[in-house]
Amino acid sequence: MPHNDDNRNVPLSPTYLGGYDLITIKNIAQHAEKEIRLGVWLHNKRSSGKIQFLQLRDGTGFMQGVVIKSEVSEETWNVSKELTQESSFYVTGIVREDNRSKLGYELTVTGLEVIQIAEEYPITKKEHGTDFLMDQRHLWMRTPRQRAILSIRAEIIRAIQEFLDQNGFSLVDPPILTPTSAEGTTSLFHTKYFDEDAYLSQSGQLYMEAAAMALGKVYSFGPTFRAEKSKTRRHLIEFWMIEPEMAFVEHEENLRIQEEFVTHIIQSVLKNCELELHTLERDTAKLEKIVAPFPRVTYDEAIDFLQGEGFDIKWGEDFGAPHETALAEKYEKPVFITHYPTVLKAFYMKPDPNRPDVVLCADLIAPEGYGEVIGGSQRIDDPALMESRFKEHQLSMDAYKWYLDLRKYGTVPHSGFGLGLERTVAWICGLEHVRETIPFPRLLNRLYP
Ligand code: 4AD
Ligand code: MG
Repeated sequence: MPHNDDNRNVPLSPTYLGGYDLITIKNIAQHAEKEIRLGVWLHNKRSSGKIQFLQLRDGTGFMQGVVIKSEVSEETWNVSKELTQESSFYVTGIVREDNRSKLGYELTVTGLEVIQIAEEYPITKKEHGTDFLMDQRHLWMRTPRQRAILSIRAEIIRAIQEFLDQNGFSLVDPPILTPTSAEGTTSLFHTKYFDEDAYLSQSGQLYMEAAAMALGKVYSFGPTFRAEKSKTRRHLIEFWMIEPEMAFVEHEENLRIQEEFVTHIIQSVLKNCELELHTLERDTAKLEKIVAPFPRVTYDEAIDFLQGEGFDIKWGEDFGAPHETALAEKYEKPVFITHYPTVLKAFYMKPDPNRPDVVLCADLIAPEGYGEVIGGSQRIDDPALMESRFKEHQLSMDAYKWYLDLRKYGTVPHSGFGLGLERTVAWICGLEHVRETIPFPRLLNRLYP
């Protein structure tokens, strides 16, 4: 039974045992054959006369609780009959091994203490439309599938930080309110900053370049905003990006770091989220193949290939989703597409010294049609070239003066990239649409809840 054998007058939550073991469904195996008490919600219920099967959830997982009429008090039996979907209560019971459940355990209920009998729940077992579920996002999150996605998202974030921290990167936070654009001016979110104009950050990169000159290897991890009027399965208005930036790192090394980084993320999820991947019915054999090195294709080669496949695309044109999917289908691993035409890419990318009409950049295209998950490049380090790019792109010298300073005071070769968190989650989870990868998606026409 839960007890508090500590002398301090600290009231412990009933889910703690003496010794401060947190009892959860996730770690239920540690409590086999013991009587425990857990705070839970009722996910579902099934009854067969003298037995109630309660599908319990505590946030860390789902577990079956069995109430047997002949073995509990009359009051406990009556309470078990009253429980509605999403009612909250404390359950006491004995943890028993059970090979029929994926979890491997079930709970023989001995007692129930109701916190609240929930009102009629809007999300039922019947099929609901996406719009309805999106309106109910605050509740929809509780379902096994959505919980599994958000839990994998958390593991991806943990693995990202683990890789970067272990490899000597320092976390640096760029501003969210910015005076200028970082990734083109068409998708800027405008706002007022007292009497000035300001924009929500599209990317922390430019600030990370400053930070890399101060700390060497840095990364930012923050929300970014793009007022893109695109309604695709890959676009969010607000999304999270991880942007490493590295002084003295050139194009080739940049790609090597990216492939090791992505390998670490995938392998961590495979190792730590087995149950969640199972809930999502993800084909993990496809993920097991994601191990560095990744194939590389130049933009020129990609154009030749696409033309050969019958696509109507000319050198100098950007790839759309169908092009990316066709390219990715050739491989079981993500593929780097490198050396895009200079005119297609951002103002800060360094031209290839052997061929200035293309830049030292790469987009990493995920397999299975998930599209671009990383965009990265080596950056221009020459002050004169940087200045001429500002003019070509009609960017205000005043606004970017500080950025030019980085090229004047000890300029060095440097590179970086941005990994889109939600597209990475969609790929690893095997989802149709990025809207399920983020707790509260911001989409074209959706700002609620
Ligand atoms: O390719 P992008 O625009 O690159 C940058 O912003 C660079 N400044 C990154 C850098 O070098 N530091 O965006 C990077 C990634 C894309 O590959 C994609 O995964 C994701 O961010 N992304 C989006 N994800 C969801 N919704 C959107 N609207 C996205 N736009 C970009
Ligand atoms: Mg890109």
